[in-house]
Amino acid sequence: MNVTITRVLPFLLIVLGIYLWIGYSITELTGGERKTSAAVDVSPEGGEAIYWGRGRCFTCHSVGGQGSAVRGPNHGQFGEKFPLPMGARAVERAKERSEKEGTEFTAVDYMVESLASPGAYVVNGYKNEMAVVYAPPISLSLKEIKAVVAYLMSLGGELDMAAIDTAPSEQTQAFYSKIAAAAEAGGGDPSAGAIVYEDNCSECHMLSEEGGEVGPVLDGISAKGLKFIAEAILQPAKSLTKGFETYIAINKDGRQTIGLKTRDEGGEIDITKATGDVVTLAKGDIKEIKMDDTKSVMPDDLSEAMTVKDYQDILSFLMLQKPKAAE
Ligand code: HEC
Ligand code: HEC
Repeated sequence: MNVTITRVLPFLLIVLGIYLWIGYSITELTGGERKTSAAVDVSPEGGEAIYWGRGRCFTCHSVGGQGSAVRGPNHGQFGEKFPLPMGARAVERAKERSEKEGTEFTAVDYMVESLASPGAYVVNGYKNEMAVVYAPPISLSLKEIKAVVAYLMSLGGELDMAAIDTAPSEQTQAFYSKIAAAAEAGGGDPSAGAIVYEDNCSECHMLSEEGGEVGPVLDGISAKGLKFIAEAILQPAKSLTKGFETYIAINKDGRQTIGLKTRDEGGEIDITKATGDVVTLAKGDIKEIKMDDTKSVMPDDLSEAMTVKDYQDILSFLMLQKPKAAE
């Protein structure tokens, strides 16, 4: 117990410190400006300031003749390649999409999707390198993103502030929830988190039907909340998932087998060890079998192998694992 506390506590303090530091450093970096941007104006003007400022959109995009970046599509009307400014282009793309898929998809849905899931639709002739603008280092808040959407929609499109801000469509709301979840998880980077997950967790957990079967399936885990997930990683034994309790079986010859009881029938018991190996024991050979609720089969020192950034990234990755909508 003491060992866990001395190991986990410093890590928790560091994490807490980093959260505070991130808040502090943002205020520092933007200096006095933070006062105005803290109360970011969800309007085309507010969005324009972010586009050419802390949103860093201008490092890859231009708007007509304004700016010189060409890594991403021009957001204005520009030459033959860009006959329509971004607002009007979104209307056009949404129309094509609705026709193709037979479901209603609005211009705002298209715009918000470009920001929430940049990989979902990659503009012809460009690489899939649009930034995840709600993850570090850009880390725009949901409000700031709404403002940028308002700015881009105002470029030749019909500006419908209700559809952007107060009464978003179901599609747009789903993207907003994703952005809010990533921001809530300390602004970790979910794509980096996917790699940390792959390296540290997938051998035991299934996600989208891939991975190991030792631990519980993690699809939809965000429903349990950030605090629960954070604890499950830092102190797995604190609340063992039902059906995944740890058993210790002691054989008559004194040999111990520790793991999950994954089968109990006839004269046999299967114990699945943390490695995934399954040990079959004959009941006649067992002297004692007991549950140990102070230990999890999930190691409690995983956080030691991770940096604080890894930890934040993995939290934001897991917060994106939303329960599937009921069919
Ligand atoms: C690192 C470079 C980079 C940054 C920074 C960046 N983008 Fe992009 N963006 C791209 C690239 C490349 C594409 C084209 C590929 C794609 O569609 O994913 C793109 C595509 C888009 C599209 C779809 C364009 C179309 O013609 O349909 C929108 C909208 C967009 N970006 C908005 C933004 C906004 C707003 C910001 C700032 C908050 C931003 N981008 C920051 C590189 C970037
Ligand atoms: C050696 C196997 C193993 C590894 C590696 C492992 N876990 Fe687990 N995990 C388990 C087991 C077994 C449980 C169930 C017992 C418990 O609650 O501690 C569990 C429980 C969980 C839960 C609670 C699930 C629920 O629905 O209650 C979460 C969240 C979780 N693990 C996340 C992770 C993450 C994130 C990583 C990687 C950093 C990871 N696990 C690595 C075996 C593992």
